[in-house]
Amino acid sequence: MNVRASAVQVLVQVLGEGRSLATALPPILNRTAVRDRGLLRELCHGVCRWYFRLQRQLDRLLARPLAVTEYGVRALLLIGLYQLWHLRVPDHAAVSETVAAARQLRKPWAAGLINAVLRAALRRKQELAALLESDSEAGTAHPRWLLARLRQDWPDDWPAIVAANNSRPPFVLRVNSRRLAREDYRLRLAEAGHSADAVPGVPTALLLAEPTDAATLPGFAEGWVSVQDAAAQLAAALLEVRPGQRVLDACAAPGGKTGHLLECEPNLQLTALDGDAGRLERVRDTLRRLRTDARLIAGDAARPADWWDGIPFDRILVDAPCSATGVIRRHPDIKLLRRESDIAALAEQQRAILVGLWPLLRPGGRLLYATCSVLRQENDRVIAAFLAAQPDAVEWPIAAGWGRALPHGRQLLPGEATMDGFYYAGLSKPPAAAPGA
Ligand SMILES: C[S@@+](CC[C@H](N)C(=O)[O-])C[C@H]1O[C@@H](n2cnc3c(N)ncnc32)[C@H](O)[C@@H]1O
Repeated sequence: MNVRASAVQVLVQVLGEGRSLATALPPILNRTAVRDRGLLRELCHGVCRWYFRLQRQLDRLLARPLAVTEYGVRALLLIGLYQLWHLRVPDHAAVSETVAAARQLRKPWAAGLINAVLRAALRRKQELAALLESDSEAGTAHPRWLLARLRQDWPDDWPAIVAANNSRPPFVLRVNSRRLAREDYRLRLAEAGHSADAVPGVPTALLLAEPTDAATLPGFAEGWVSVQDAAAQLAAALLEVRPGQRVLDACAAPGGKTGHLLECEPNLQLTALDGDAGRLERVRDTLRRLRTDARLIAGDAARPADWWDGIPFDRILVDAPCSATGVIRRHPDIKLLRRESDIAALAEQQRAILVGLWPLLRPGGRLLYATCSVLRQENDRVIAAFLAAQPDAVEWPIAAGWGRALPHGRQLLPGEATMDGFYYAGLSKPPAAAPGA
């Protein structure tokens, strides 16, 4: 099948059914010839990345609006525009291949429309460029509500956040320090033809010059390396785990941080919990590949009465469900799928998880709260509200060379030091007073 037609099959699921690229793309990618997979991924991610701009241009180019249900034709038109502005496909090939895809998708009636719209786009390039100046959604390729939030939370930094969100993400590996040193793996990569650089300040992180299929990397199947952004690699060190400790990874799937914790200290009594039993299977796969193990539980972190054995934990990692607004460059469909009303609901879920898990922390223990959000409602404001309501919770300030201190916790913005947008805050419970003291 024509790659553009395959991209339509993915994009109609995103545009029409609200499914994520992470769900919709892999099955179609697997049915696509290996040589076409890069272009398929590029078209799907690219259209989502620039959706708010391309859609506005399309509205301007169409003499009459398309029927709302014509998701396939709309996706094809967006794919056509994306190719014209962002890919090095010659204009005539971009137009003819997109028209051919309409025929393959049994939409022959749309062939003439697609041809006319794409040719008009080339003719009216200047007019379409001017649209970006007058319309902030089109100009930034961000939905209005998110843009307003970014401006409010980051009055000086929002343009850099927008630019980072619209950039292609770096491809970062975590070297399993139990297996080999980062520099040794870098040399192995070089032998295999991959150029990589160490990420300063993150001892296990390597930034590859070009993205690649992780499964083809040296030692990947044997657990020498994992794909994980450097910002996510900060969690394990922040938790400061020690041999023999009981550790709860409370929102564990797909197991990126679970694996890293066990690479840092294999002698842990580690419980990996996730509310989604299906996703918990991915933790099992991750740990099997890394040749390590943990106790896996499917359960709601906010309702420990359903699954907790009553023995407290020395360390708890809460990598909370969040808006993922710090990783938009990796998941550009977030801009289409997330709604403003989600943010308050997520903040409430985050609060409920912290409240639910707090009694499980041993006095003297530490809890690390993390999100891949840049919205303060999910980050320092959640921690501020929790500290105000929980008299035995104390913040341990994170002193670090990365990110910036907020009134509570520390924030990395996307693109800073190559990293994803991430938030970390540390909470501890004072040791219990000695009897009679
Ligand atoms: C940000 S992801 C975790 C990523 C993971 N820590 C890693 O590093 O690979 C958040 C996870 O929280 C899970 N989750 C959401 N609500 C939950 C709840 N109430 N209890 C437990 N897990 C939950 C989701 O299923 C999702 O897998």
